[in-house]
Amino acid sequence: MLDIESFVRGLPKADLHMHLEGSIEPQLMLDIATRNGLRLRWDSADALRAAYQFTSLQSFLDLYYEGCKVLVTERDFYDVTRAYLRRAHEDGVIRSELFIGPQSFTTRDVAIETLMSGVLRAMDDASREQGTSVGLLISVQRHRTEADALAVLDQIMPWADRIIGIGMGGAEVGNPPSKFARFFKECRKRGFRTTVHAGEEGPASYVRQALSLLQVDRIDHGNACLADPDLVRELADKRIALTICPLSNVRLHVVPSMDKHPLKELMARGLHVTINSDDPPYFDGYVTENLLACRSALGLSLSEIVGLARNGLCAAFVSEQERQDLLCKLDAYLVQHDSALQNVPARTH
Ligand code: ADE
Ligand code: ZN
Repeated sequence: MLDIESFVRGLPKADLHMHLEGSIEPQLMLDIATRNGLRLRWDSADALRAAYQFTSLQSFLDLYYEGCKVLVTERDFYDVTRAYLRRAHEDGVIRSELFIGPQSFTTRDVAIETLMSGVLRAMDDASREQGTSVGLLISVQRHRTEADALAVLDQIMPWADRIIGIGMGGAEVGNPPSKFARFFKECRKRGFRTTVHAGEEGPASYVRQALSLLQVDRIDHGNACLADPDLVRELADKRIALTICPLSNVRLHVVPSMDKHPLKELMARGLHVTINSDDPPYFDGYVTENLLACRSALGLSLSEIVGLARNGLCAAFVSEQERQDLLCKLDAYLVQHDSALQNVPARTH
């Protein structure tokens, strides 16, 4: 008998939308704070986890930026990155694309070299020790200015060959993509792939701006696009992937509950939908938990889950050769589980 949870956990998959600052498990955050001589407002992992109750994106960001303050040394950035990649490997993630936003650190006098060397060393160790394919995305904060974002771009250029793309997150409403048109043009000019959080709390017009004005390669979230049928058609025609994060959307009240999540409608409209974790401990789930939550609330079939995993690998910022290698791993897994899959009742397969 096929154990669905183990099948989904073992399914070779990608996590294309995950913030390193949002990946710190509570106990690790407390341990890092202690060794850096910092005091948090919580004195146990349970107390910290209990504080993860949010009313909006901003209420989450307030806590997320507070958590960033514990990361100071190269070892801190290494430990956080290595811990996430270890956990993701156990979750069947074979391609991981990690966001980090330097502004949370450089504005507190942590050197960009400290951050980059810790993160990159952990990425190298994970790819050598576990065989995970890992890419780094630099994220800028949209509540700051475009000049601030351009300064980040200059700071990271010494590591340009280790960075697969540039993104943007933070408080969305009131900070439309159009505020960063020059910045994204410059990113593209310097050869970076681009992605932007849009249509999470913001309206469909922000997704439109991300597509037409910023000309990004992917959209992070993008749920709100459904309000504009022409935009949906264009996103589908251009095969622009949406990196959807269902548990994040529920926990930040972007959608009222998992059974009201628009995932199935996004899929039905022909959009290139991928499932991702965003900030796993804050929202109580890695990619597997996201997929399982969608399955139970929305009745996703196993073939739909496999399709979502395939979409993630197809949307990764990798070479064509690497994409084929990743897809071969997925296909081999499906062949290996073929007889078990035959026994899943037709309604759920
Ligand atoms: N940074 C980390 N998680 C985020 C989210 N869900 N939206 C915007 N910025 C973020
Ligand atoms: Zn995000």
